[in-house]
Amino acid sequence: MKNIGIAILGLGVVGGGTYKILTEHREFYKKVHGLDIAVESVLEINKERALSLGIKENTVADNIAEICSNPEVDIVVEAMGGVEPAKSYVLAALNAGKSVVTSNKELFCKYSHELEKSAKKNNCGLFYEASCGGGIPVIRSLLDNLQGNKILSLTGIINGTTNYILTKMNNEGASYSHALNEAKKLGYAEADSTADVEGYDAVYKLSILASLSFHTKVPYTEIFREGITNIDTVDISYGKKLGYALKLLAIGKNTDSGIEVRVHPAFISSAHPLASVNDSYNAVYITGDCVEDVMLYGRGAGASPTGSAIVGDIIYCASHDKFNYSTFDNNECPDPATKFIKNFESAYYLRLNAVDKAGVLSKVTSTLSKHNISVAQVIQDNENKRDKTVSIILTTHVTKEKNIGKAVAEINSAEGLADVVTVLRVVD
Ligand code: HSE
Repeated sequence: MKNIGIAILGLGVVGGGTYKILTEHREFYKKVHGLDIAVESVLEINKERALSLGIKENTVADNIAEICSNPEVDIVVEAMGGVEPAKSYVLAALNAGKSVVTSNKELFCKYSHELEKSAKKNNCGLFYEASCGGGIPVIRSLLDNLQGNKILSLTGIINGTTNYILTKMNNEGASYSHALNEAKKLGYAEADSTADVEGYDAVYKLSILASLSFHTKVPYTEIFREGITNIDTVDISYGKKLGYALKLLAIGKNTDSGIEVRVHPAFISSAHPLASVNDSYNAVYITGDCVEDVMLYGRGAGASPTGSAIVGDIIYCASHDKFNYSTFDNNECPDPATKFIKNFESAYYLRLNAVDKAGVLSKVTSTLSKHNISVAQVIQDNENKRDKTVSIILTTHVTKEKNIGKAVAEINSAEGLADVVTVLRVVD
């Protein structure tokens, strides 16, 4: 039997979930893995929270130094979130020779180069399965199982909070704010839910997944981002009638012209497997040149699923003597040969408010045509006419992002024509 001592930094949803799994499964891990994994120490400002989990008072450390100097601690689990003090604590643990398991996507995305350098120098493990997709084993799939492939693309639903909100809006017609409050209550949202709803959380995760997939650092600053705060249930309903589901998608493509990385809400055909990924479930749809399509699916947020990923890393770390690090030169910058495509291509959904009179639609379509945008379909909603104004739903064939921007600006600046109130991308 090998004894493994754990320290957990932060006993919020993820840290608390990890503590519960470790204590409830202790005998099971002894039996199947020959590992006696004991939580030797925790760091938590809210002592009451620690005690309410059944943690003894003398297990609660006063500071990180106490954990770093504790010879019983082999692995430090960082479940605090945010950059500081998490970064200083992780570096202190690595420098003290402790391996680290983290669920912190923001920290890992921004500083993986620094953390990995320190882990290598100190011959420690650095594991981050829980940083992306909650309980889905996507990191290890990319690091190990899919290594035989050139990864061509990945499309993911990688934020549980926004997927929960969009599912509620789609299935129940719930308001955005009601659905967000529910997601907070269920422990899916970040401490500051702006990170979820504005797409930052998905951007951090996409940066990690794209870096591993494409073998070069993909800085989060290169990722196009748009959140879901302006989504109107009306558009979800129109989209549904057109055979689409609305999802916050994280898209990464590795093409001959460069790497394309973006996070934004998008309509996806209801026949696509990602369209039926609902609630707090996440999925990552990966296309490799040998394997073709692989979809990994599971709970993307919450105490137990994220705890599952953390404990998987703990067991992996405890059962290996040598550790693997990134499969690329993990410095702060991308490979110098890498180009990032900014003016990406997509099909689009537009909703316009227009006066119902002769010539309006033709002016709209001629403006689109001027910007090289070909219309795929047009629907006028006569049932909800208000003061001679109707909604016109228009979808386009694939065009460039900049073309749409210019055409919409021109339509909106023309007097008495029509107003484009919604622009959403449509993906295959
Ligand atoms: N707030 C995150 C989400 C938690 O909703 O996906 C899991 O990373």
